[in-house]
Amino acid sequence: MMETASVRAADQSRIKILQLTDLHIFRDPHGTLLGVNTADSFQAVLDEIAALPAERQPDMFLVTGDISQDYSDGSYRRFASMINGLGRPLFWLPGNHDDGPLMYRIFPGMGLSVARQIFCGNWQIIMLNTQVYSNPCGYLPPDQFEFLNHCLEAHRDLNALICIHHNTFRVNSAWLDQHYLKNADEFTAMLHQYSSVRCVLCGHVHQETDEIHDGIRYISSPATSIQFLPESDAFGLDSAGPGWRELQLFRDGTFDTQVHRVRSGCYIPDWNAVGY
Ligand SMILES: [Fe+2]
Repeated sequence: MMETASVRAADQSRIKILQLTDLHIFRDPHGTLLGVNTADSFQAVLDEIAALPAERQPDMFLVTGDISQDYSDGSYRRFASMINGLGRPLFWLPGNHDDGPLMYRIFPGMGLSVARQIFCGNWQIIMLNTQVYSNPCGYLPPDQFEFLNHCLEAHRDLNALICIHHNTFRVNSAWLDQHYLKNADEFTAMLHQYSSVRCVLCGHVHQETDEIHDGIRYISSPATSIQFLPESDAFGLDSAGPGWRELQLFRDGTFDTQVHRVRSGCYIPDWNAVGY
């Protein structure tokens, strides 16, 4: 298994990345999640990205988990066919709704990279696996800590962007926060040993958050499927449209980022849903 990849950015002083997360795609093309056809909402995001001007097209895509909603190989084949025309490298990690072992087994045959460490300019991007099989919470096992430490130790000279499915810090929603990264303290303790760590980018919470803790920026992003209502202790859905995140990484370790969404009023969920 090839664990590393190198990407040459069109402009090495400004690495352009688009993050896609929480697609929740089904094997069935008519499959819906709380009233939203998730293949259609993902396609709408892809269509908007395809329409971006050339200067905003990314050097790579990062997909931060929950690609599937039904754990099926058919859902992953649908995903692979949908991204087939992107024309840019794409890297991914599993979420709690995914079947990680299945993905690592079948994705190479679909032409998808399984690289977990990506070099680009003077940055490295590290893709971690926090999936606990068939359990919604996140946990970083010893082998992931070992991998993270190896990446950071071997390349202290490179700025680090770390991607992970689960949120490291709570988002003030009790129903979601019960499933955050269980060993977050151990994770942040390791990050603090390395001044090269700039950002931790996650999915899972289906909403935009952006906080700085001890000099490291922790960012979550909207789903390409349904959105959860921010700051709600009980389950709730948001009317915001499916979205994605744009990042530009600079040589000095700083970066810019913005969230974009398909126009509101599309892909409205079932407001009567009481759970997820
Ligand atoms: Fe999700």
